[in-house]
Amino acid sequence: GEPSVHPAWLPSEAFRALGSRRVLVHGDGPLVDTVETEVTWACSRFGGQALVAPYRDEPVDLVLALRWAGPLPAPATRALAPLNETGGGLGDEGFLLTRVGDTTVLLAGGPAGLLYGLYHVVRLGEAAFDPGLPTRRHRPALRRRMLDHWDNVAVHPLMGQVERGYAGGSIFWRNGGPRRDLARIRAYGRLLAACGINAISVNNVNVGGTEARLLTERLGDVAEIADVLRPFGVRVHLSVTFAAPVVLGGLPTADPLDEKVRSWWATTTRQVYERIPDFGGYVVKADSEGQPGPLTYGRSHADGANLLAEALAPLGGVVHWRAFVYNHRQDWRDRRTDRARAAYDHFAPLDGEFRTNVILQVKYGPIDFQTREPVSPVIAAMPATRLAVEMQVTQEYTGQQRHVCYLGPLWREILGFRPWGEEGRTVAAVVAGEPAQGPTRTRSGPGGGLVAVANVGDDPYWCGHPLAQANLYAFGRLAWDPELDPAAILDEWIDLTFPPTATEDPALVRETVHAIMDDSWRTYERYTAPLGVGFMVNPGNHYGPQVDGYEYSPWGTYHFADRDGVGVDRTRATGTGYTDQYPWPWRDVYESPETCPDELLLFFHHVPYDHVLHSGSTVIQHIYDTHFAGVEQVEAMFRRWQLLAGVIDPALHERVTDRLDEQVLSAREWRDHVNTYFFRKSGVPDARGRRIH
Ligand code: GCU
Repeated sequence: GEPSVHPAWLPSEAFRALGSRRVLVHGDGPLVDTVETEVTWACSRFGGQALVAPYRDEPVDLVLALRWAGPLPAPATRALAPLNETGGGLGDEGFLLTRVGDTTVLLAGGPAGLLYGLYHVVRLGEAAFDPGLPTRRHRPALRRRMLDHWDNVAVHPLMGQVERGYAGGSIFWRNGGPRRDLARIRAYGRLLAACGINAISVNNVNVGGTEARLLTERLGDVAEIADVLRPFGVRVHLSVTFAAPVVLGGLPTADPLDEKVRSWWATTTRQVYERIPDFGGYVVKADSEGQPGPLTYGRSHADGANLLAEALAPLGGVVHWRAFVYNHRQDWRDRRTDRARAAYDHFAPLDGEFRTNVILQVKYGPIDFQTREPVSPVIAAMPATRLAVEMQVTQEYTGQQRHVCYLGPLWREILGFRPWGEEGRTVAAVVAGEPAQGPTRTRSGPGGGLVAVANVGDDPYWCGHPLAQANLYAFGRLAWDPELDPAAILDEWIDLTFPPTATEDPALVRETVHAIMDDSWRTYERYTAPLGVGFMVNPGNHYGPQVDGYEYSPWGTYHFADRDGVGVDRTRATGTGYTDQYPWPWRDVYESPETCPDELLLFFHHVPYDHVLHSGSTVIQHIYDTHFAGVEQVEAMFRRWQLLAGVIDPALHERVTDRLDEQVLSAREWRDHVNTYFFRKSGVPDARGRRIH
């Protein structure tokens, strides 16, 4: 049967190498206690020995030491004395791993570093005890690695308990109140620490009446979650409504420049910190899709964000102010309005006006978490603003955790994108807060880091689809080190989730899971909306194909297909002028269909069906070919997975088989909708004569 809760990337077996050794933990404090608890448990399980300070010259295989002030914890650590003195640039979250004689030694710069170091040792398994273990310093590239839960407290009539949630109910809330499954929250905190995530927000960015009260009357429920997550180094944030002074405080206005409003936020925020001293801060979706905001009062987004930032600053909190602002009541007849332009048009003029504890949270693309979008131009347009990039681990537009779609490669591409061309910084460097080299003046100071919408729920496998766990793991790992290779992350995840020491044929598991997942994002792209044009989904739930689903809607997401061609003209020469929002070279690369990358062609250009791509294929033939190929690949995934029957846990195997079944059906549906639609529009037959309906 199914497990009550699947251990995901922390099955007991993953602790075998560590747990069968003599391990000394040195340091004090709540996070060190967590490390001690893990080590003690692992050693009792696998026959090792957990040693506690004070240390008496016993032989030891592993030392996990926090930088120490008092006497040296073990002979092996003597070699590290100089580094211990200086900290060696480890920071609070970093650690050094090395071999001294027969001992593996981990020296952490701070308590969180010890925790991350522990899980790193777990990841390494036996390799952590290899005499040839290379000495390496580890430090997160990004200090802020956060998940946004779109969990509602009260069940929303349309969106349910979790907005865009595909893994059952919330792990925090149920039917209007806290779920109080603290063991589950603890297990979650542990998983988060083990992939490097250090912050979450606990409620949906669309803040309803019940959810608004988390800030005041229901603060105790938030404090309870914070208490459980604290030992795992995870800070709790809250989504708040901008109208809180009105709906909670009974004030006549929420105007950010009103004195009473300012003092209401100051007092309320102080009360939050009295209950939750390490509270992270607020997440705000303002003036977006019907949420209240400063524009109502004729004030700017900067006025709005600064209001909350001012209340949080003395207490050490930040405001994540979302840049997802656009007109969702657009007239589809109006070809000049372009939703892609909206975030830049709203925010770029405000660069430099935000307080230093405001983090402007920008979706990776200009539209909305599509399978393929260009990188948002906002990222290059606000050098004086602290920016975070927002990803979507929950697979709203990428198969809703019924389809296998490993998103590591998509995120890696975004993080490695260089908005100013080859010589410039990457997106990862921008959100890390690295200043630009050369004459351009940029702010100096910490970056806003990386945020993603979470994908877990109360499902026994956490994510509905067991393989979707890899997306959560990969997000954490990429936030820690944006240069990691997604295939290597998958290797880590496979070995943790299906430990080789507990598997009959580990090579087969590795090979099969890679074959299914490595390219699954591109496979998903092949059988869904073509060449970057996006959407073509059923309105509302966003699952499954409906080519014209949003074509005559107010949402601003159109493909403009007619009998001659398809795509959105976003050029400055003849279109919406969106390409103008990019710095050189991209403003020119995207402007011309000659240089625009194939995969984004229809995002930027409206072209005839016989337009020839760089690949040599025409647009129409590309549509047919990729849709046939995509379905064949999904069918192959299904067959591959059957090779693992009897090799891995049968319940997990069956769950994935069920989902793959659905993925095959859904992919065929996509193929036939899209191919038939374009065949009927264009009248151009498939050059290879395959069946189109
Ligand atoms: C998408 C999603 C909404 C969500 C919104 C947001 O549009 O469909 O459910 O509220 O993004 O990011 O705020």
